[in-house]
Order: sequence, then structure tokens, then C-alpha cells
Amino acid sequence: MAASVQQITLRVNRQEHHLTVRSDASLLAVLRNDLALNGAKYGCGLGECGACTVLIDGVAARACVIPASGIVGRSVTTLEGLGTLEAPGLVQQAFIEKQGAQCGYCLNGMIVTLQALLNRNPHPSEAEIRRELKHNLCRCGAHIEILEAARCAVEMHQ
Ligand code: FES
Repeated sequence: MAASVQQITLRVNRQEHHLTVRSDASLLAVLRNDLALNGAKYGCGLGECGACTVLIDGVAARACVIPASGIVGRSVTTLEGLGTLEAPGLVQQAFIEKQGAQCGYCLNGMIVTLQALLNRNPHPSEAEIRRELKHNLCRCGAHIEILEAARCAVEMHQ
């Protein structure tokens, strides 16, 4: 059976968007295809890899497995909402400074997940940083640089 379409209003990066979307459209598809917000990436599509991570009401969430229609009334923040090229956010700055990536595909998930951690715990320990990031996959093996960037972000956040 074909999916129906519906009209929804999403609050993304502090702006309201009135959209007509398929009822089965994921938040990730709507962000990328309807709003041209391409920071969140499609990796596994199963909620496993973390490439699609966004903040919903400040908490990390996997946009590939969340229906866009299910988050009406919530506040979504994407990588683009954390800073700009000219004025990157604190976590983004740390990753730039420490060159915390190789191919960069996982970077969205690493940055947004770390931001979520800092939102609820401004002073995370090394163990807490590692626990938070451990479900974000990096196939390049850039974990040393990513952890260094994460530590740098925590220091800058103090
Ligand atoms: Fe969403 Fe992998 S693409 S968790």
C-alpha cells in the first residue's frame, strides 16, 4: 500500500518549517531532502552507526529511525544549528583544531553526540566521553584524533 502524505510543522535549528511529507518519511530523509540540511548522514539506516545523529530537545537521537511526523512540537538541532563556517560551535572548533576525522563521514555523529553529553554534563570524565561515543562507528580508525578532539572540546567548555 502506498504511503499517504501529511502536512507537518517541524522546528529545526530554531526555525519553523511547514512541510508536506510522506507519513513514513524518516526525520533524516526530511532534513536532507526537504530542508537541504546535509550534516546528518545516511550510514546504516538502522539506528546502529550514529552517522545520522541530531539533537531532539537537546538529547542525541538517530534521525534515520525516527519518523518526522513523530516529533512535531519538539525542537530539532542539526550539525548546522551548532555553528557556521565563519563561527563554528565549541565542539566543532575542537574537531577542527585537532583534525578529529579522516574521511569525515562519522563526524556529524561524533560532534552532535558529544554536544548532547556536554548539554547534560558540562564536565564529563574520560570514561564518560568514551562511553558516550562508543556507539558511533568510525571505519577509518580515527579514534585517537576523535578522542583528542573530544577532550579539547571538554576543556574549552570548562
Ligand atoms: Fe542512522 Fe546509522 S544512519 S544510525
